Amino acid sequence: MRIVLLGPPGAGKGTQASRLASNLGLVHVATGDMLRAEMSAGTELGKKAKGYYEAGDLVPDDIMIRMIAALIEDEGDEAGMVLDGFPRTVPQAGALDEVLQHSGGAIERAVNLRVSRDELVRRIAGRLICTSCQRPHNIESSPPGKEGVCDECGGELVQRPDDRPEAVERRLKVYEEQTAPVLGYYEKSGRLRQVDGEQDPDRVFSLLLAAVR
Ligand code: AP5
Repeated sequence: MRIVLLGPPGAGKGTQASRLASNLGLVHVATGDMLRAEMSAGTELGKKAKGYYEAGDLVPDDIMIRMIAALIEDEGDEAGMVLDGFPRTVPQAGALDEVLQHSGGAIERAVNLRVSRDELVRRIAGRLICTSCQRPHNIESSPPGKEGVCDECGGELVQRPDDRPEAVERRLKVYEEQTAPVLGYYEKSGRLRQVDGEQDPDRVFSLLLAAVR
């Protein structure tokens, strides 16, 4: 099964996608995590992405489409996947369908996590991510057992550079202008489902499972 998880910054895509992938035996593909890994390794791709990322802008479509196409071509998609952070524009959604068509696959479900703006801002302000495994924690809703230390792998917890208030404002604007239209793309083909992402994480997960089944 191939699933796209949609929603604005802070909606809980990363939190739920990793849980959904382990529950359904799918591969979790998170383009934000991939870009953060490229940036911390100082690769050419990471250097190209850094300015856009830190300002809260989208990395250009041609770079992102090449990155996803290479991943699918190199690693195959037979195991199925949960995509988190891709597609983020209508051209990315069209390109994804084309790439999957080559291998006889398709996105079966796109699920949108709906969360109010006030709650998004509150969640992002409290988020810390692990520098090692990238798992998100939250100082309010899911604080780590030991301050500054990842519950999953013991790595160091830090604030993301694009979680600064100016970058968050920009990301929310970019979401409305460039990513929200992706919902219409999947709605037209009958693949879109809506989930209330403002519930507690366990409840969101049950709603999500019901939406993809
Ligand atoms: P990316 O890393 O994908 O960020 P994002 O889409 O802005 O989403 P976030 O990671 O902020 O939020 P999330 O929905 O995953 O929420 P999370 O689970 O962490 O992308 C970053 C940047 O990379 C982009 O701005 C762009 O520059 C670039 N980029 C990436 N992909 C791209 C693409 N395809 N094209 C172009 N550019 C691209 O949860 C948030 C917080 O809330 C956490 O602290 C969590 O613990 C907490 N939380 C989660 N669920 C709940 C709940 N139910 N109740 C209470 N708290 C909760």
